[in-house]
Amino acid sequence: MKVLVTGGAGYIGSHTVVELMAHGHETIIADNFVNSSPEVLARLKQITGREVELHQIDLTNLDATTKLIAKLKPEATIHFAALKAVGESVAEPLRYYRNNLYCLLNVTQAIKAATLPTKHFVFSSSATVYGNPEHVPITENMPLSTTNPYGATKLIGEMILRDLAIADPSWQLTILRYFNPVGAHLSGLIGESPAGLPSNIMPYVSQVAVGKLKQLPVFGDDYDTPDGTGVRDYLHVVDLAKAHVKAVEANNDKPVVTYNLGTGQGYSVLELVKAFEEASRKTIPYQIVDRRPGDIGTCYADPTKANVELGWKATKTLKDMCEDAWRWQQKNPYGY
Ligand code: UFG
Repeated sequence: MKVLVTGGAGYIGSHTVVELMAHGHETIIADNFVNSSPEVLARLKQITGREVELHQIDLTNLDATTKLIAKLKPEATIHFAALKAVGESVAEPLRYYRNNLYCLLNVTQAIKAATLPTKHFVFSSSATVYGNPEHVPITENMPLSTTNPYGATKLIGEMILRDLAIADPSWQLTILRYFNPVGAHLSGLIGESPAGLPSNIMPYVSQVAVGKLKQLPVFGDDYDTPDGTGVRDYLHVVDLAKAHVKAVEANNDKPVVTYNLGTGQGYSVLELVKAFEEASRKTIPYQIVDRRPGDIGTCYADPTKANVELGWKATKTLKDMCEDAWRWQQKNPYGY
């Protein structure tokens, strides 16, 4: 299948490109490198043994996006291209709404205009759309809400797609709600490379282990969890990438489907720190500090629906996630 991957040079996008190619799909990347590096292309070539077609494009430009999609005529599009830092989205809401929503509107508009025989579209959503969930594990039918502009762009994005499915049932739309993607490709050639101070825990811990950062701030130890620190559903990025392959290969009989992607198992911050210490054989100094505004205590998925309908299940353990994140960090202490 010919698959267009927007944001394909990014963290989850690049791992998905590897899995798509391993499954024999003709894979094309569209990226503007605003939050990724062109070096990813060289790394993808090393892993896959093939050159990946790249289009450097600003998807907020409707004209350019329409021309690209009309020329490529993809059979499926996986849409990763988006800004994703929660804190930054609070500081720069207009940039987040503009970028994330214009990209989504333009890509879907361009697919519509190209009158493609199949309108298969996979959207990167997030567990953030569950806001502060009433209970765990979280199922897809639970109430949706948001606490920050980044989350709002994901929730509004989902609403746009659900309305699109009502207006035109010939779309095959798949909304994937990611829990906490971490880890890296086994080769250590591609991984998460945040610009500046990491806001997510795994890159932060990795940078402490490699000596770039002094200690991990642990955001609160007074949550209603076994050790008081936040509990999350950490998911290996390669497992997550494989879910995207399943999603493009699936033949949905519904115009829109939504899946949680997680392991179904929650781990606390301190459990993650311990697992990382074991994987890296390094001590991770940490200090308990105040809760981070907007954080919730516990969040983990019920991934049953993706298992039953997509035939997808996460297979990698927390140990795998830490070992692979550590390999990537050691090989690339300064990122790409
Ligand atoms: N944490 C720390 N110290 C840090 C960073 C994080 O203690 O320096 C803690 C957080 O308080 C939380 C856990 O580690 O308990 C995970 O935090 P992350 O920032 O790694 O991830 P979040 O669960 O806050 O957010 C992630 C994605 C969001 C997405 C959300 C969906 O980053 O994009 O999951 O639930 F919206």
